[in-house]
Amino acid sequence: MSLAKEIMGYSVIERSSFVSTSKVILSHNRQAKQKLGVNPALIHQRRVSLRKGSGGPAAVAAISEDLVKAVPESVVKFKVRAVVTVRQKSKEDLKDTIAKHWDALADRIGRNVVLQLVSTEIDPKTRAPKKSNEAVLKDWSKKTQVKAERVHYTAEFTVDSNFGIPGAITMTNKHRNEFFLESMTIEGFACGPVHFPCNSWVQSKKDHPGKRIFFSNKPYLPSETPAGLKAMREEELRYLRGDGKGERKLSDRIYDFDIYNDLGNPDKGIDFARPTLGGSKIPYPRRCRTGRAPTYTDINAESRVEKPLPMYVPRDEQFEESKQDTFSTGRLKAVLHNLIPSLKASLSANNHDFNGFSDIDSLYKEGLLLKVGLQDELLKKLPLPKVVQESSQGLLKYDTPKILSKDRFAWIRDDEFARQAIAGVNPVNIERLTVFPPKSNLDPEVYGPLESALKEEHILGHLNGMSVQQAIDENKLFIVDYHDAYLPFLDRINALDGRKAYATRTIYFLTSRGTLKPIAIELSLPPQGPSSRSKRVVTPPVDATSNWMWQLAKAHVNSNCAGVHQLVNHWLRTHACMEPFILAAHRQMSAMHPIFKLLDPHMRYTLEINALARQSLISADGVIESCFTPGRYCMEISAAAYTNFWRFDKEDLPSDLIRRGVAVPDSTQPHGLRLLIEDYPYASDGLLIWSALENWVRSYVNYYYPTPAVVCNDQELQAWYTESVNVGHADIRHADWWPKLASPEDLVSILTKIIWLASAQHAALNFGQYPYGGFVPNRPPLMRRLIPFEGDPEYTNFVSDPQKYYLSALPSLLQATKFMAVVDTLSTHSPDEEYIGERQQPSIWTGDAEIVEAFYEFSAEIRQIEKEIERRNNDPTLRNRCGAGVLPYELLAPSSEPGVTCRGVPNSISI
Ligand SMILES: [Fe+2]
Repeated sequence: MSLAKEIMGYSVIERSSFVSTSKVILSHNRQAKQKLGVNPALIHQRRVSLRKGSGGPAAVAAISEDLVKAVPESVVKFKVRAVVTVRQKSKEDLKDTIAKHWDALADRIGRNVVLQLVSTEIDPKTRAPKKSNEAVLKDWSKKTQVKAERVHYTAEFTVDSNFGIPGAITMTNKHRNEFFLESMTIEGFACGPVHFPCNSWVQSKKDHPGKRIFFSNKPYLPSETPAGLKAMREEELRYLRGDGKGERKLSDRIYDFDIYNDLGNPDKGIDFARPTLGGSKIPYPRRCRTGRAPTYTDINAESRVEKPLPMYVPRDEQFEESKQDTFSTGRLKAVLHNLIPSLKASLSANNHDFNGFSDIDSLYKEGLLLKVGLQDELLKKLPLPKVVQESSQGLLKYDTPKILSKDRFAWIRDDEFARQAIAGVNPVNIERLTVFPPKSNLDPEVYGPLESALKEEHILGHLNGMSVQQAIDENKLFIVDYHDAYLPFLDRINALDGRKAYATRTIYFLTSRGTLKPIAIELSLPPQGPSSRSKRVVTPPVDATSNWMWQLAKAHVNSNCAGVHQLVNHWLRTHACMEPFILAAHRQMSAMHPIFKLLDPHMRYTLEINALARQSLISADGVIESCFTPGRYCMEISAAAYTNFWRFDKEDLPSDLIRRGVAVPDSTQPHGLRLLIEDYPYASDGLLIWSALENWVRSYVNYYYPTPAVVCNDQELQAWYTESVNVGHADIRHADWWPKLASPEDLVSILTKIIWLASAQHAALNFGQYPYGGFVPNRPPLMRRLIPFEGDPEYTNFVSDPQKYYLSALPSLLQATKFMAVVDTLSTHSPDEEYIGERQQPSIWTGDAEIVEAFYEFSAEIRQIEKEIERRNNDPTLRNRCGAGVLPYELLAPSSEPGVTCRGVPNSISI
């Protein structure tokens, strides 16, 4: 068969116009081979195997022997065939089954799926792209009974011999229902199979009258777009941008921007009103526009869609079935919709504190008795935490979090407290201390005197005989400083019922063994008067009382840390700041744009998880507000960090490390940086991944952009970046630090940052949430009491039963169990997770074989990094990740099994 195709192909080539096109492609490839330094022989082999395996075994099997029926030489028409792969739902409900049968019936009477091939070339006579005849997908109704996940259909076309290469396929779905089109392969052209990776829902014509357009996998810069595809490239982008009007339907594919004006629900009362984020008053990144009507009470607030109704995201951004179903977001929805209400109903009447640490342990061993039964449906969706149904009651059993797995008492020790600042779930706030006492950047006119209460005598005894200045000069002092993030909000937070916080600073000393030791904690409250006790310093304990004080102070630090981690580092700096780049990418860069293809896997599911977060997590009275100390001020803290701290140009790992003073530029080091905390697991593993990403992106960018002029003249690329900044980050668009995009190296830098944030940075901050936070004393998300001074009425209670006081300062049973259920889900990898170094359809995602080859090299490098991380975790000289009961640092280990594993770097932010 293949021989027949070859013969047929060459006979067509001789008299067709794609001889010249092929030549162009080859010379382009030759140029690229040199740039990428890839062995041409390898490419040849890969290319051969690429063609062999195209479309997968099932697709090949579906092609019949008479595919390229010999057409008499005199007739200048020939037949080609499309093999179309449609993905089916694995579980069908009655509605799906009826719909399917209805479409099967309709298909038989001519309401079918119609395809047409479009050439890359223009027909000189009509001045329109050359097109095949329209052809229908065959045997739809016959295949209704097929139970496989993927069903292959075929369609046959007749094309003129001078058709050229197919560059696009249009599709009209005359069925009543949408279907998921995975890919199409056109067989029969002399150039070999032409692949069309689609991964898109094709809506019914009745909902979306226009034809769908799918482009082949061959990337083209806008200026190189073949004449036949130019108009379609623009048409498709116009569609995706929409007109910015009206309410979005769930079946729409429109990407647009809006402000965060849907977090509150003023119609429910003043307690549910929240300020709009985004705009000159409270700057914030933009989110995906949904266009719902305003609320009745506030015309500027958008009305809400409450769970379980879905929020709009463009149709192809919705989670695939496996993710919707048992794992991750399916679980998240089950937790939010079923479990939390059940917890509330079971516990709120008796919203008590933990009586002892054994109460917390029993959540993992015996489980929590839920007085309200849970529906059977929930049981299926919650494999973890385990729910055991017992008649009308249920037993909720949590998994033992990793922090308790190797050493049950590690969390209480100072060495572990310090280790988590560089190897825990929030390793990005530690800075080198350059000035002592530390200084605030807040305005004293607004916030009163801001001098630190820290004095040399607080720390001098912990510096191994060094003076403070010597310790600073020798890079031995580090700080985690949450003072400025919290202080402006403390009056309001501490006025909330059952919420108490300080603005904390923790000073660390770097020991000769390379580990950190906390040596002083400063706890600040807003100044209240001349003799106020608004600031205090707590130092390592010397007796039982000071030991409990120290533990309480560490709990407040960890609670500050949990808030900044969640609201700033995790939500704002990865989830929220990525969204504008994703929206603009879909609106401004065609699916055939090489940079769109590069970014595509790193944008998967982010809009959907962010929409879910707006609906249930960061919304008024949502999970975040109820579980974190700042309550209704949570998102304002997030927004303040966007205004005061966030800079896109510093979001790459090397710049971030330099900004925090924990690394210095050093050209003799492998990554051009020397870490001042040598065994800093997040930074040292992160640099491996950062370099691999940068190399891959550089190879990719240099292939398509040999000169600065090509970057500057790429209208789609420039429109993407301009819109990301000016519309997506509109409130800070005038900042002078935005990187320019005028050269290939600028592009490498921008893209590597984006991919880093979506993959490794998010993974480092996300997948340790339950492993470290699932035991609330280790990282209390919320604190309910301050630390009493001697003489305070509460001091007597504290002294008489310090454990009771300590536990009453931590989250209540309901608050803790709710938080644990949510972070368990947020730390879960779904079974269809795609990890860094992996791609869907690895051999056909792009039509440029050299790029496929370079990607395989990047994947191999990622596998090497995984081995190196494993080696480091077994190196006893690295005491921050190896030692008695010490947890290994695996949050940047690339691969993972499904579930809560505390490792694995997915390509995108999807949970
Ligand atoms: Fe996340």
